[in-house]
Amino acid sequence: MEIIPSPLLDFVHTSKTFVHERTRAIDVLKDISFSIRPGEVVSLLGPSGCGKTTLLRMAAGLEKPTTGTVLYQGNSVEGPERHRGIVFQSYNAFPWLTVRENVAFGLGDREPSLDSEKVTNWLRQTGLAEFADSYPKTLSGGMRQRVALARTMIVEPRLLLLDEPFGALDERTRQDMQLLLMKIVDDTGCTVLFVTHGIREAILLSHRIVLLSQRPGRILDIFDSPLPQPRTPELIKTPEFMALYDRLLSVFPM
Ligand SMILES: Nc1ncnc2c1ncn2[C@@H]1O[C@H](COP(=O)(O)OP(=O)(O)OP(=O)(O)O)[C@@H](O)[C@H]1O
Ligand SMILES: [Mg+2]
Repeated sequence: MEIIPSPLLDFVHTSKTFVHERTRAIDVLKDISFSIRPGEVVSLLGPSGCGKTTLLRMAAGLEKPTTGTVLYQGNSVEGPERHRGIVFQSYNAFPWLTVRENVAFGLGDREPSLDSEKVTNWLRQTGLAEFADSYPKTLSGGMRQRVALARTMIVEPRLLLLDEPFGALDERTRQDMQLLLMKIVDDTGCTVLFVTHGIREAILLSHRIVLLSQRPGRILDIFDSPLPQPRTPELIKTPEFMALYDRLLSVFPM
């Protein structure tokens, strides 16, 4: 008998309404229910403004649902914690710290050891060793996102929450970052919830794709990726990739 592991993260009838200017209520997410199992990479795909960032912030504990719940390992998420690492949509390396200091900061120690094995390892994994003593403002956008990724990964989070981390990058750099992410997921086996509005990226990187409607975001459908592991960029040339791409393109809400 196959043993199905219990979910790491559960959205249970989760809805979110924001109140603007004290009176105007905006329904952002409606009745979202889905689970993520340990080791899964799940993409949240949907149009701009449908509540993807809000859903991710609720998983991180930075925002509370208006109704319904978010469970992490079966317990209600009440606030941020280190096992749930988040990389935000915009660049988020601290400008006043060097690359090495930024990465070490992720350890959460008051006086982090700057040359510990972990720091050196993540600088190397993300290709930043050469720039360890540089400040973020002297780096490219892709490099700054690598700093953010290294700073988040250094604590070996069980759940990695990524909010369009490559959205602002040019196509080539984005592909390099996708490769890096595929490698990190393979190496660490961490569970990932990945927000994107890129159909290609969603298929290439994830095991399952949760497609959201226009705001208020509801789940339109959940797709299983037919691609084998490990993921490689060449897979976008396969008929399986193309078939799912065409299908998602035809149902992507405009
Ligand atoms: N703190 C907040 N207070 C009030 N309204 C908010 C807040 N955060 C988000 N919203 C509103 O919620 C809606 C969804 O925002 P969200 O950032 O979750 O969308 P998104 O799907 O991530 O969009 P994008 O793809 O453009 O990043 C928007 O209408 C936004 O104005
Ligand atoms: Mg967003």
